[in-house]
This record gives sequence, C-alpha cells and structure tokens, in this order.
Amino acid sequence: MNNLTIIDHPLIKRDLSILRDRNTNNHLFRTVLKRVASIMALEVTRSLKLREQKIRTPLEDTTGHVLAEDVIIVPVLRAGLGLVDGFLDFLPDAKVGHVGLYRDERTLEPVDYYSMFPTTLNKSLILLLDPMLATGGSGAAAITFLKKKGARHTQFVTLVAAPEGVQRLTTTHPDVHIFSAVLDRQLNAQGYILPGLGDAGDRMFGTK
Ligand code: PRP
Ligand code: URA
Repeated sequence: MNNLTIIDHPLIKRDLSILRDRNTNNHLFRTVLKRVASIMALEVTRSLKLREQKIRTPLEDTTGHVLAEDVIIVPVLRAGLGLVDGFLDFLPDAKVGHVGLYRDERTLEPVDYYSMFPTTLNKSLILLLDPMLATGGSGAAAITFLKKKGARHTQFVTLVAAPEGVQRLTTTHPDVHIFSAVLDRQLNAQGYILPGLGDAGDRMFGTK
C-alpha cells in the first residue's frame, strides 16, 4: 500500500485509545479528536514546499521562508468537522471548503447533500479530512467531486482506515496520498470498521 502513510506517534496512539473507548463521552471525544488532528497536522505538513523570503531581524537582513503553495482544508461533513480546528491551528491562512456526504445505511454508497469550495481549488493543495475510511465510498466520491471542480493536488487525511477503504481509494484515485493514524483489521457486515471507534459523527454530536 504505497499510497498510505501511517502516522506512528505515541501521543496519537494514546488519543486513539480514548476515542475507541465506548465510555468516552461526546465532549471528551470532540476534545481528543481536535488534539489528535493537531498532532497529525504536523506530520501531514512535513513535506510542504517553502519559498525563500527576505526578512529583517532586529539586527540584520536574513532569509526566511513562507509556504510556497496555498492550502485548502476540506472536511467531509459531518465527522470531518472534528479535524478542522486542529489543522487550522497550524495552517491559520488555509481556506476551508465543505463537502456533505452520508452513507446510505442499506447500500453503503455515499449520498451527497452539500458542497462549497474556495475558487482556488486548482492551484492549492487540498487536505481532505474525514476521521473514518471504511468502504472508501465517501472518500472516493469526495475526491471525484473535488476533481470535477478543478482540484489537482489532493491528500486524504483520516484517523482510522480499513484495508477495504484504502484499496478502493488507491484504485479509484491513485494520485491521492492517504495519511492515517492507524490501519484497522476489517469491516463488519454493516460496513463498520473493526475494532474501529463506532460512528464518528454520532460520537461527536451525540446523535443516536
Ligand atoms: C462516516 C464517516 C465517513 C464515512 C466512511 O460518515 O465520517 O464519511 O462514514 O464510510 P465509507 O468509507 O464506507 O464511505 P457517515 O456516512 O456516517 O455520515 P456522518 O458523518 O454524517 O455521520
Ligand atoms: N463510518 C463511521 O463513522 N464509522 C465506521 O466504522 C464506518 C463508517
């Protein structure tokens, strides 16, 4: 799975355990999701390109750096919203787009209900955020959406990936690199990730 980078970090492992725990309440779930997103943001942005810029310190001129490429953060609604602030902490100038998808519980296929993107999709790095990559249907559909709107460089950032989802994304969009905190074992018959953390949107917002 060349397209997949697992971000291996002790603090992520600790936080993932809190998120997996069925006794973690909605408030703690949101808090920890934001924190783990921040840790992931540092790793995901490690290969961002820089441009040199002259700056003047209080003592002399020197060469500093600015990001060479604009970044657009796109959460997949709803659960992707939980990762946005953690990324914005480190990318405060990033623009934010939104794509709304939910999985039909019977077919497991994504149904789209909303999208709104900045106009600069074609010249920005897109970080598509969704904590769960299960069948890969939602992720693949979101990337197809983005590409139709002009996106040319997208990376997919997730927390818990299933092998089935990684396979589907890699096959459908081989140009899109996937970052995940963990690769779990498999999907169950209802399309939930095992061991997983349950329904991320419901656990964030207290629905169901
Ligand atoms: C969850 C999750 C992903 C999708 C993953 O969203 O946030 O978007 O499922 O499953 P897939 O890889 O099989 O498509 P859900 O459909 O539950 O919507 P929600 O975020 O509104 O709860
Ligand atoms: N969506 C979730 O929120 N959790 C899963 O395990 C699978 C899809």
